Amino acid sequence: MAKKRVGVLISGNGSNLQALIDACKSPDYPAEITAVISNKSDAYGLNRAAEAGIPSHVVPHKEYATREAFDEEMDGLLAHHSVEIVCLAGFMRLLSPWFVKKWQGRLLNIHPSLLPAFKGAHAVRDALAAGAKESGCTVHLVTDELDSGPMIAQARVPVLPGDTEESLHKRIHAEEHRIYPAALKKLIEGE
Ligand code: GRF
Repeated sequence: MAKKRVGVLISGNGSNLQALIDACKSPDYPAEITAVISNKSDAYGLNRAAEAGIPSHVVPHKEYATREAFDEEMDGLLAHHSVEIVCLAGFMRLLSPWFVKKWQGRLLNIHPSLLPAFKGAHAVRDALAAGAKESGCTVHLVTDELDSGPMIAQARVPVLPGDTEESLHKRIHAEEHRIYPAALKKLIEGE
């Protein structure tokens, strides 16, 4: 069966992008990454895309008057690369309802908490501050509501005594790299 063409949107380090790139190397993995888009020109993930020979584009959000205009530019690039599924991987922009609707059911996000707990941009810090004994990560389909939408996969990690935001996020990241490729596969195979 033909591999599904996946576009990955990033803003930063792109370690989840790397996990997806690595999974796609396996001949029996059902996806290939055909485009990477970053809203930041200095995102390290762009180097990962280059290293893997994947076309990448920088779309600086500040250059667009509206969220829709920015999303339309990305949508055009995704179409250019015949992308069928979009994975958000540390992409730190809210998407317009127009974009979310257009990609409904084909738009995945990964979030560093056990959703529905700790939505938002500071999920790891917030879990620590709340004294949570456990945290983790969630892959879900994107809907109009922030960090909501049907869950595809989740993994739990303990919060250990003395954890800092950095140490906890590191533990969560390790699980993210495992469940994101698995969740994408699950979506494609319709499980
Ligand atoms: C991850 O923790 C992800 O859950 C969140 O942003 C972080 C991105 O990390 N949405 P990376 O850029 O993939 O390393």
